[in-house]
Amino acid sequence: MHIDRSEQLEDADRAIGGNAPHRALFFEGEEGIGKTSLLAEICRRNFDRSALYVDLGTAYDESDVLGVIAREASAEGLRMDSFRTLRQRYAETPSVTISDSEIKKSNVEIAVSVCNNRKLQNSVLTDELVATLATARAERAPVILLDSFEKCQAPMREWLCGNLLPGLLRAPDVTVFLAGRSVPRLNRPDAAALARTLVLAPFDAAVVEEWIELAEIEELKGLGSVIWGGTAGVPARISEFLSNFSAVDWAAE
Ligand SMILES: Nc1ncnc2c1ncn2[C@@H]1O[C@H](COP(=O)(O)OP(=O)(O)OP(=O)(O)O)[C@@H](O)[C@H]1O
Ligand SMILES: [Mg+2]
Repeated sequence: MHIDRSEQLEDADRAIGGNAPHRALFFEGEEGIGKTSLLAEICRRNFDRSALYVDLGTAYDESDVLGVIAREASAEGLRMDSFRTLRQRYAETPSVTISDSEIKKSNVEIAVSVCNNRKLQNSVLTDELVATLATARAERAPVILLDSFEKCQAPMREWLCGNLLPGLLRAPDVTVFLAGRSVPRLNRPDAAALARTLVLAPFDAAVVEEWIELAEIEELKGLGSVIWGGTAGVPARISEFLSNFSAVDWAAE
């Protein structure tokens, strides 16, 4: 069961429909507030678009993030051949592990330059992916959903904010949703002007009551504000509490 966050969903609709100044929405909020649930709901409502979801918390590195987006885009019918060929070529480039204790001083320089090349390679790969996404038909335009931003390490954050997000925002018809316990602040003014941050608040007592009604839990009707007091309105806690009163596992719905 999903309790609609109407303000955020309306904003999402406007961004996807091209009826808003922003083309990216960042959802910020504490653990269990409903960020992933909101992204899932946006995916569900936009089944006619190409919704491409990436859990940044499980992505290994930059190339992995790009690979996940490319795989999903491919499943949505976009031809990703040139991106795949490029990625394959880079994967074959030998890389050197600097932590290798056997490494000689002269090799450190090579290792560093290979690392620099990785940065350059990621940048070229990003541009290639964005260019391919931009070729999607407008009615199947990509909606990119990036989840769990807070789990990204610093180098990946730098690439996301300096490279991937500005690239996606330059591509016509592409919409971006990003969620995290913390979300990025974009430095480049052109990109920042296209992104809007919405902080997800806990539900209020009236919403808790509405949830009880929808879940048809007779014995809890009228107790919305009591449950709100005990859960601080955090959806994860409300859901866990209500599941004790219902034969249906709401969390799994
Ligand atoms: N809008 C909603 N309607 C109904 N249940 C919700 C809603 N939002 C969240 N929940 C419940 O709360 C649980 C946790 O939500 P969710 O995983 O979306 O939180 P989160 O903000 O992504 O947390 P985290 O920071 O740990 O990633 C969900 O599994 C679901 O049971
Ligand atoms: Mg989440």
